[in-house]
Amino acid sequence: MLSIEKYQQIFVEYLEKYSAVKEPKNLYEPIEYILNLGGKRLRPVLTLMSTNIFNGDHKKALNAALSIEVFHNFSLVHDDIMDDAPLRRGKETVHEKWNINTGILSGDAMLILAYQLFENYDASTFQALAKLFSKTALEVCEGQQYDVDFETRQDVTISEYLKMIEYKTAVLVGAAMKMGAIVAEASSEDQNSIYNFGKNLGIAFQLQDDYLDAFGDPKMFGKQVGGDIIENKKTYLYLKALEFSNESDKLILEQLFSSNPEDISNKITLAKQIFESSGSAEATKKAIQDYTNMAFEVLNSLNISDEKKQLLKDFGIGLMNRTI
Ligand code: IPE
Ligand code: MN
Ligand code: MN
Repeated sequence: MLSIEKYQQIFVEYLEKYSAVKEPKNLYEPIEYILNLGGKRLRPVLTLMSTNIFNGDHKKALNAALSIEVFHNFSLVHDDIMDDAPLRRGKETVHEKWNINTGILSGDAMLILAYQLFENYDASTFQALAKLFSKTALEVCEGQQYDVDFETRQDVTISEYLKMIEYKTAVLVGAAMKMGAIVAEASSEDQNSIYNFGKNLGIAFQLQDDYLDAFGDPKMFGKQVGGDIIENKKTYLYLKALEFSNESDKLILEQLFSSNPEDISNKITLAKQIFESSGSAEATKKAIQDYTNMAFEVLNSLNISDEKKQLLKDFGIGLMNRTI
């Protein structure tokens, strides 16, 4: 096994070789732009790690890792259009820098590029990867639709929210790890265990994303802080605040999250105040820990060395402590 930083470095070197701008520039430049904005590279690193965990060669997993990263960035380009987001990784979003049509088409091309990367594998690996990819990508679309539907619903439940984040975010983290296991030709039992590890980690990751969206440091976070509040997203923070609040705060929250006021900074301040005073912010932190621990539980069922388990745990702990 290598260090997490080393996997990152190997991946970024591979990515740099891959991204070259072709004609027409207005199609390929945005792709190159979003892929090279940086980011944690968490999903591709997990793919490479997973291959090594099951005694495969991580070099063989580079195209699968790249496919996952290209797909992920495609989903961000379209997501930023859907969420009307101005910033991504501290820079202008693709549709702000170019325009919405460019974001749509460059995104479409990225989805195709992601599939194309599987062509580098032999027939049976190709089939297993493509099958997992198609299932996962459809689930991501389902999760995204729920997320949008929830913006205008007032009766979203915690379990609906958890299902939504499982689909829009967590299944891709699970799939990233399962792809690594597929490339390493791990048993189907191991493939499923590592998928569940990734999925639980992915739920914790999205819960924290929602937490940081409200409470992150604008200088560090790289996205518009309060973006979820502006867009009336029914996050864990919001749902728990409703659950814990008295009638008057509940009414304020419900009114805030069913309108699009001019004065967004007042909306954000008020919502964050109630998230904190209600105990929802604390409950969200607790849920992040719970899902991370659930991921760690899954590791017990894996027949791998303690050293490998520790590396996966370190990765999970690192995610929990992140500020971006
Ligand atoms: C994005 O979810 C999920 C996908 C792109 C599929 P969010 O909208 O919550 O993520 P951020 O906050 O923009 O990164
Ligand atoms: Mn979104
Ligand atoms: Mn978004």
